[in-house]
Amino acid sequence: MIVVVGQRPPSKRYASAAGASVRASRNATSIAFIATRFSAWDTDLLKVLATRRYPGPAFDELRDVEVAPLEARDDVEALIVANEPVSPEWFPALRLVANFGVGYDRLGIDALVARGVAVTNTPGVLDAATADLTWALILAARRRVVEGDRRVRAGEWRGSWADGFLAEEVSGSTLGIVGLGRIGQAVARRAAGFDARVLYTQRRRSDTGLGEHRELEELLAEADIVTIHAPLTGETRALLDARRLALLRDGACLVNTARGEIVDEQALVRELASGRLRAGLDVFAHEPHVPTELLALQNVVLTPHLGSATRQTREAMTRIVVDNVLAFERGEELVTPVT
Ligand code: DGY
Repeated sequence: MIVVVGQRPPSKRYASAAGASVRASRNATSIAFIATRFSAWDTDLLKVLATRRYPGPAFDELRDVEVAPLEARDDVEALIVANEPVSPEWFPALRLVANFGVGYDRLGIDALVARGVAVTNTPGVLDAATADLTWALILAARRRVVEGDRRVRAGEWRGSWADGFLAEEVSGSTLGIVGLGRIGQAVARRAAGFDARVLYTQRRRSDTGLGEHRELEELLAEADIVTIHAPLTGETRALLDARRLALLRDGACLVNTARGEIVDEQALVRELASGRLRAGLDVFAHEPHVPTELLALQNVVLTPHLGSATRQTREAMTRIVVDNVLAFERGEELVTPVT
């Protein structure tokens, strides 16, 4: 007899299958659970489909999970996706979508809500990683770091360091933040280390003291560097259209770690091809497609949607996803619901 104190007990389905499955064999001996929550004895396992094995040890706490592509299934009750579109009609038993990521703009949330499906996301844990990458792109684009690296590798560094190849200063620059939410604020806090003056634009003025408020168009005209940290909504789609991009100062740097669709991508390609602007882009309108015109340009740094891509952050995101699934399975309040 093994006594486990304070651990989740097996569900009815789990217990009845004891000895008959891999999961059950982990606990094939007689186990008595002293539950901290009596109601959990009544928990039924939730049939979960995950679009990949999400990183970190928390994923192993899911007891009935299958890793498979999103294809029509009538047994699946919960989906774990990374902002991938979900067709609710493919999953008649669906009750929960746990999104791995803070942005859920591609899920098709309206149809899910209409079907009464609960949706969760992973806010908070990826702010620092995304803010760090934003500064990496600001530094790389503004100081021509990637271009310099390419020159060295191509054997093109021949003269003295004192000959040309000048970039633009980051320290002391004016940084314009579009969207001063959690990630925007993390970017603004880091700006202090660069003695940068921070402007921000947002529908509701913030009292964080992290920057001076400007209307969007004023901010675009005043900043040396503009960085986007807004969610993709009907209101922000193509927010930076050709007319607004034209307001950016000559030589200004645009950084986007939010969503590609917030910028008119073709208009941005034209501006970059003209050489008037610099950019650091982590996100694109039709990922993983990147406009081919950008590939040959030296004034743009391109990364493959790496905002949250550190081991620590991605593991923390999985932790929240799993906590939401387990809470739903136990009939408890969701940790980070978006609906
Ligand atoms: C998100 O969480 O929405 C990000 O795009 C992932 O980095």
